[in-house]
Amino acid sequence: MQDLADTIAKAVGELRRRYDGTPKVGMILGTGLGGVGEAIRDRVEFPYGDIPGFPRSTSPGHAGRLVAGTFEGVPVVAMEGRFHSYEGYSLREVTFPVRVMKALGAEILIVTNAAGGMNPQYDLGDLMLIEDHINLMPDNPLRGVNDDGLGPRFPDMSEPYDRKLLKLAQDTARDLAIPFQKGVFVAVPGPNLETRAEYRMLRGMGADAVGMSTVPEVIVARHAGMRVLAFSVITDLCLPDALEPADIDKIIAVAKAGGERLEKLIATVLAKID
Ligand code: HPA
Repeated sequence: MQDLADTIAKAVGELRRRYDGTPKVGMILGTGLGGVGEAIRDRVEFPYGDIPGFPRSTSPGHAGRLVAGTFEGVPVVAMEGRFHSYEGYSLREVTFPVRVMKALGAEILIVTNAAGGMNPQYDLGDLMLIEDHINLMPDNPLRGVNDDGLGPRFPDMSEPYDRKLLKLAQDTARDLAIPFQKGVFVAVPGPNLETRAEYRMLRGMGADAVGMSTVPEVIVARHAGMRVLAFSVITDLCLPDALEPADIDKIIAVAKAGGERLEKLIATVLAKID
C-alpha cells in the first residue's frame, strides 16, 4: 500500500510548512469534548480541508481542525472533531489522521468519545476509562494489502489499552477526587441509536458503553505501535427497560459538562506521562 504511505507523507509535508515540533501525544477529541483542545498553548491550527488526505468533518459538535502545540508543557497534536464511518467515510479515511500523528512522532494516542451507558451502575456525565473494546463495525481500517512499514498484518489485540497509562489515569483520577468507571466499549456503525433489543444484546455481550467511533482509531494506533489511553463520557443511559428517546442536543450538553472534568484529568495525566 505505497499509496497510503505516500498520502501520509504528503500530509506531513503540508503540516511541516508551519509546524516543526515532535508531538509526544496525539489526541482525538470527541463529540462535545473539543474544550480539551482549548487548553493547548503555542497553537498552530490546520483546518482539515487544508491537509492532503484528510476528509472534512460534517458532524454536529465537531470543529474540524488539527491543532499542534503544548498541553501542560507536553508537545501534542490534537484532532478537534473526528471522522465517523456514518458520515460515509471509509475506515481508512476515518483513521488517516492517526497515521499522520504517528508519522509526526506521536507515541501515545489519547481518545475521547461520547457514549451511551448500558451498565446499570452508570450515571449521566460519568467518565469511563476504556479497558477493552468490542468491534461491531462492519468494516476494518486494516482491510486490504498491508504495508509492513506501517505495522504488522495481524496486530495483537490482547491489550489494546495500555495498562500503565490506564493505571496512571486511575491513580490521577483518585488523587483529583474525580469519580470514574472502568469498562468495555462497543463500537457500532450508527448513525441511528440502538433499539431496546440491541442494547440488551450489547450489554449481554459484555459491553458497558456504546458509541459510533474510537475503535477504528484504536486499531490503527495499535497497528502503528502507539500506546493508547481512551475515555468515554456517558451521555445517555441505555437501559432497555427504561429507555427514553435520544436527544442529541442533550447528549452534546452532557458531553460538554463531563468534558470539563475530563480536561482536568487529561491535563494532570499528561503532566505525569513519561
Ligand atoms: N449509542 C450509540 N452511540 C452513542 C450513544 C448511544 O446510545 N450515545 C452517545 N453515542
